[in-house]
Amino acid sequence: MNHIKMPEVFVKFTLGGMLVLAATSCQQEPPVTSLPQAPAVTFKPQELADALHAVIAADQKTYALPGDETLLAHHAQKLRAAAEFVQQEGAEFHYVLRSLWPINSKDAPETDTEKTGLQYVLEHPGTNYYGGESLGGRRYFTAVYGEKATVNACTDCHNRNPDSPKKDFKMGDVMGGLVVRVPLEF
Ligand code: HEC
Repeated sequence: MNHIKMPEVFVKFTLGGMLVLAATSCQQEPPVTSLPQAPAVTFKPQELADALHAVIAADQKTYALPGDETLLAHHAQKLRAAAEFVQQEGAEFHYVLRSLWPINSKDAPETDTEKTGLQYVLEHPGTNYYGGESLGGRRYFTAVYGEKATVNACTDCHNRNPDSPKKDFKMGDVMGGLVVRVPLEF
């Protein structure tokens, strides 16, 4: 005769953070088919872009922690390399560091939306820019987040760099922007 077991509780997190609880008893394996259907979760493009930015910005913050000046000195190269790794993994979204006064001319804005976004975050510190654009026949949601000088090293290094077109960055200035693109078509 089978002995009675305590009910097992299965916890499942859907992408949207919705918690689904299902209880079943007297079974070794969870009867997957009898689990309630998780509701479909949809993300707004802005929520996705903001979430991506939160992770990237947190990583960037770690570069500026005291004691690791080398990491901060190569911050733009590290970010570019990471963005390329993400692309190699097949990600549909993109991100890139841009500035209206780039040390590296490759970091200059390339589209009207990037230019508008960089100008906007410059004139509205603390505010993000959200827009849309069509690139290569595909529509994108494009967000631009201001890149602020948070430590003296930011301004010192950029002002000193012979390739920097701007020599008078000050602490707290928006020095450029991080552009995050989320496709609207798959
Ligand atoms: C020791 C030098 C150094 C420090 C410190 C530094 N940067 Fe940079 N930064 C660079 C260099 C060099 C580049 C260009 C590298 C590249 O794109 O290959 C760059 C690129 C950038 C760009 C892209 C546009 C451009 O100039 O090419 C932004 C925006 C930027 N830095 C902001 C910051 C901020 C904000 C900080 C501080 C949190 C900071 N930087 C600290 C050297 C530095």
